Parts: sequence; structure tokens; C-alpha cells
Amino acid sequence: MSEHIEVSRDGAVQTVRMNRPDKKNAITRAMYAAMAKALTEGDADEAVRVHLILGVPGAFSSGNDLADFMAVATGGEHGTEVYDFLMALATAQKPVVSGVDGIAVGIGTTINFHCDLTLATPRTRFHTPFVDLGLVPEAGSSLIGPALLGRQRAFALLGLGEPLAAADAKAAGLIHDVVAEEELEAAVLALAQRVAAKPPQALKIARDFMLGDREALVARIRAEGEQFRARLSSDEARNAFVAFMNRKKG
Ligand code: COA
Repeated sequence: MSEHIEVSRDGAVQTVRMNRPDKKNAITRAMYAAMAKALTEGDADEAVRVHLILGVPGAFSSGNDLADFMAVATGGEHGTEVYDFLMALATAQKPVVSGVDGIAVGIGTTINFHCDLTLATPRTRFHTPFVDLGLVPEAGSSLIGPALLGRQRAFALLGLGEPLAAADAKAAGLIHDVVAEEELEAAVLALAQRVAAKPPQALKIARDFMLGDREALVARIRAEGEQFRARLSSDEARNAFVAFMNRKKG
């Protein structure tokens, strides 16, 4: 489906790895589709108890592929892949764990808003320059962000586009812990295995209570998505995409 998404199993942990290092794991429509499929199939598979989302060393993800955004900005069709992925993630029936090293931009940050446990490395910076790109926060981050971080820290991240260092993300409760780069993969797999070893039915009930009613979240993802799609063809967004495409010229 996408050569840039690798799905593998380690016991009851299903790992979904974004693997497009030459583009710092910018996520294409095919990658979203492959990740949505993996989450949905993992939820349906009794042998899978935990979803683990990983990137590559130095890059969890640089966010949505800006060439795909540019295509929509110039009249192309948007597709439903991002929305399908976000729905699969936000309504996942099994715990979601992530391991983040280095670049975590845009959806590379907001994916983790939906994770039950995230480990990140000291060099990780969570960065959501949506407004700078003429866009709006997505993935329900305008709802989860203020609830999780408090209004002002959420505004600094999602409105000002101020990066959040891993240690600050831990202090803010956005992530579970910070571990050294060379330890990340083993540590996050061990953490996912600990989750997988819990009695799954009790854990599901506990998690469902902690997540609460997800209808408001789903409605917010949909509302943000409508604004986001409309913004993609705004002058503010088009100019920002062109500036990115041209930044290495001259
Ligand atoms: N979409 C498409 N391509 C991207 C990308 C994205 N979101 N992020 C990085 N790339 C590509 C670059 O164009 C470059 O490709 P090239 O080698 O063919 O020129 C390659 O990935 C490496 O990126 P580069 O910018 O050279 O790496 P860097 O380490 O100097 O910077 C980032 C990394 C992530 C800080 C920088 O690439 C960036 O700001 N990307 C855009 C992030 C963004 O705005 N995402 C959307 C959020 S909604």
C-alpha cells in the first residue's frame, strides 16, 4: 500500500513505523491510508493488544507532505486518507504507544496527543506551525491541547507555533518520559510489552473510562478538518507552501 509504512508484530505489540527518512518522514496520502489500515486491522485482530507508532532515528515526522498540501492548494482533490487515519487513531480500541526522536512537526506532534504513553528523546522538539502556514490546528488538538496543557501553553504551541522541548512536554504531561536516543526503541517496545501483558478486558474498560465520550473529539476533528481543507487554498497557506518549496533556491 505504501513502501514508507512498515507494519510488524512483536508478540501482542503491532508496530507501525513511518520510514521515509529522506523526507524526514513527511506523511503522504498513501502513508496515511496504510497507517489507518494497520490501526483498523490491529483493532480487529485478537492477537494484537497494543499499537506502537514509531518513526526513524532523528525524525518521528515532519508532518503532512507539503507537496500534497500544495497539490490541494492548486486545485487538486483532497482525499479522505488523513481523516480516515485520524478517525482510526482517535477511536482506537486498543492502547496506542509512541516513540519519538527528533523532528515532530504538525501531525508529527498531534499524533502523540492521542497516545496513551509516549517516550521521546532529549533532542525531540514538538512543533505545530499550523498558523504560520496559514492553517489551523488539526487532529482534535484544539480540544485536547488546552485540556492537557492549559490554555496558555496550548496557545504558545498551537497558536504561536513555539516549539516544546521534550523535557517541557514531560513536565506538561504531554508525554510519559524522556529517554536517551540509543535507548528509545528498546525502551518503548518494553513499555508497549508491559501494556500488552495487562489483562486486556480490564485495561480496555479502564482506558475507555479515562478517554471518556469520544463523540466531542470526533466532532472537533471533523470541524477542524473542514476549516483546514478550506484554508489549504487560502493565499496565506499557498504563500507559505511556495516559500517552503523555494527555500533552498538562490
Ligand atoms: N513535506 C514535504 N517534504 C518535506 C517536508 C514536508 N513536510 N519536510 C521535509 N521535507 C523534505 C525537504 O523538502 C527535503 O527534501 P529535499 O532533500 O528533496 O530538498 C528533505 O525532506 C529534508 O528536509 P530538510 O528541510 O533539508 O531537513 P532539515 O533537517 O533542515 O529540516 C524540517 C527539517 C522538518 C525542520 C524542515 O524540513 C521543515 O520545516 N519541514 C516542513 C515542516 C512542516 O511545515 N510540516 C507541515 C506541518 S502542518
